Amino acid sequence: MLKGKKIVLGVTGGIAAYKSAELVRELVRSGAEVFVVMTHGAQAFITPLTLQTLSGYKVATDLFSLIEESEIGHISLAERADILVIAPATANVIGKIAGGVADDLLTTVVMATRAPVLLAPAMNVHMWENPICQENILKLRGRGYHFVDPESGELACGYEGKGRLAEIPAIVEEIRAILSPKDFSGEILLVTAGPTEEPIDPVRYLSNRSSGKMGFALARAARLRGARVILVSGPSALKPPCGVKFIPVRTAVEMREAVLENLAQASALIMAAAVSDYRPQRSHAEKMKKSKTELNLPLELNPDILFEAGQRKGKRVLIGFAAETEDLLANARKKLTEKNLDLIVANDVNRPGAGFAVDTNIVKMIDRFGKVEELPLMSKEDLAHRVLDRVLSLRSA
Ligand code: CTP
Repeated sequence: MLKGKKIVLGVTGGIAAYKSAELVRELVRSGAEVFVVMTHGAQAFITPLTLQTLSGYKVATDLFSLIEESEIGHISLAERADILVIAPATANVIGKIAGGVADDLLTTVVMATRAPVLLAPAMNVHMWENPICQENILKLRGRGYHFVDPESGELACGYEGKGRLAEIPAIVEEIRAILSPKDFSGEILLVTAGPTEEPIDPVRYLSNRSSGKMGFALARAARLRGARVILVSGPSALKPPCGVKFIPVRTAVEMREAVLENLAQASALIMAAAVSDYRPQRSHAEKMKKSKTELNLPLELNPDILFEAGQRKGKRVLIGFAAETEDLLANARKKLTEKNLDLIVANDVNRPGAGFAVDTNIVKMIDRFGKVEELPLMSKEDLAHRVLDRVLSLRSA
């Protein structure tokens, strides 16, 4: 996604400047070309040589250097940028940009660029809370500047509070979001993920091997493409993607409630969750003791959430997943029809590289017109984008 993107990274003078090295590495690893501009203040905390070594390009520092100006002058930097990121951004640089000051290379590039600008502030908590700083941020937000807010925690200056530079993955994610095409803007997408857990007693439950990876990848991709995303997930070890509304649930009944509550506002529902078909007839309040005989555990049917959503489908696009171990196409087609779906993503979970807990998947997508699209082995992230592409094409079909 960041492959080939040209990112101008401004580094300003705060203790968090050392973290810009990690940011450069991460961006370069994602395939971006990074051109670093450092203020004089930044160079007191980290050397240009470090960032030059990591980025592979000469670091620009000086507005009035004849050589630098001819090679990487402020106009050329401003024009080549797909995005301009300032991390860390001090209260000083925020104030200067808000006040229209352009008195060094970085602020001049900001003034001259037409690319989106993302600021990741980092400063002492009192500076962050200072109404002048907050007013400047408000003003810049109003002008379309993007911010990734600092986090709370222990600050280098010994204080506790908000002001610590956002985590590097959160900054990279925001860059991705800004640079993604926004073909889902204005839409609300409802996505489910993970397994459900059906309690037997306080320490035991029925569940399955779903990790939540596919649903989380879908939620993240939709959010990057501009959707407002509601992610309803059963128990998963994964961290919810930035910027999505996350509703954690445990059982199929809880998942049903969360889905049906949010369905009306959604323009599409993608059910990637592996919902338990059955639950124990009764969940024991106390831990069950073993006995000398065999155990019979009566199970009852859980609600079929997707089927119910299909009954009240309206104009929304409904997508289901089918995990199969035999007769993949026939079984998936049956589910597509019975549940009134627009598309079903079928995977043979027995194939290596497909199914639960891995980062890749091999699927066949069958749409409501009967068309089968066979996809090669790909990452769940890439598959998420392919599924979203189908949401758009099915809607216009
Ligand atoms: N699903 C659901 N509610 C259930 C079971 C499944 O909403 N109680 C959804 C899943 O999220 C998935 C689709 O239905 O998108 C197909 O799930 P799957 O378990 O493969 O199908 P089932 O209808 O349960 O059929 P079977 O288990 O017999 O294969």
